[in-house]
Amino acid sequence: MERHIRYSADDRALILLDQRYLPSREDDFYCRNTEDIIYALQTMVVRGAPAIGVTAAYGCLLAAIEVAGEADWQSALRDKLEAIAEARPTAVNLRWGVERMKALWAERPDVTREGLTNMWLMEATLVHREDIEINTRMGAHGATVIDDGDTVMTHCNAGALATAGYGTALGVIRGAIDAGKKGITVIANETRPFLQGARLTAYELKEDNIPVTVACDNACGLLMRRGMVQKVVVGADRIAANGDAVNKIGTYSVALLAREHGVPFYVAAPLSTIDRNMPTGDDTPIEDRTPREVTHVGETQITPDGVPVYNFAFDATPNELIAGIVTEMGVLRPPYKESIAKAFKDAGIK
Ligand code: MRU
Repeated sequence: MERHIRYSADDRALILLDQRYLPSREDDFYCRNTEDIIYALQTMVVRGAPAIGVTAAYGCLLAAIEVAGEADWQSALRDKLEAIAEARPTAVNLRWGVERMKALWAERPDVTREGLTNMWLMEATLVHREDIEINTRMGAHGATVIDDGDTVMTHCNAGALATAGYGTALGVIRGAIDAGKKGITVIANETRPFLQGARLTAYELKEDNIPVTVACDNACGLLMRRGMVQKVVVGADRIAANGDAVNKIGTYSVALLAREHGVPFYVAAPLSTIDRNMPTGDDTPIEDRTPREVTHVGETQITPDGVPVYNFAFDATPNELIAGIVTEMGVLRPPYKESIAKAFKDAGIK
């Protein structure tokens, strides 16, 4: 599945499959300027850390197109880039995508706006392509931790829809199947309140004929106690320098239950999700989203008027609960400070 993020040079638009309405409707959402990009990020037309990194890269391109005719286009552009980078706080890939485009600009500070637009079209296309290639490599490494007959639990959607294609956590499952592992099945936790697991993970695995069962988030303990889960594999929005993994709210609870039941818990994420400037997961900003996602299901209100709700979108899983971090450079093992530093060195990233 790769049609969910497309750039049309003819339309000068980033076309996104609108993830708010899946699986019942497959609508496209057209982003033609920075405002559209920020709206799409904040309302989760597009979501998932690598996918928002790719969207950010195309967003920079649209911003460069948008400032045509401005007397001080450079400063107008810088403001727009910052607004994109700040659209959501937790997934580090968003700022990573913007910083990558800015770094290219910094190499040619005297470039014209037209020249920058051309450079950024090529760079955004590269970021897009590279993400699919990185996920495929990650999947091949991750396949080594999956055994024939495993039922793999995943939380949220860390699949093709959350990336440019193939997926991180679901990439590990696809990698295992591509490597010839037999009898792999998936449990998708439904992932209240946005239901990424029930709606998106189930949708894309069904499309690929990978057996998937949806479970309520609070069934996790029972399923593990009954021996119905052999591995947990999740994605991440940010991994701290010490290996703590920040991912969709509820992931921490799944990891604690996995430890209690002796189920190995893996995180799959590209190096671009690892934030070496963030000492621990607890230092990571946690997005606090609109109460409406919790108080309503569709148009129906399910909580009494005026009762406050918590809608923290992410939590941090401490590194000691993580059996391995699957990256494009291999499966990193504890102690993560060292294995993360080595992965960056081996990848030639300073
Ligand atoms: O709020 P979302 O849907 O953007 O959160 C997404 C997740 O938590 C994913 O697990 C994470 O981004 C990894 S995606 C490959």
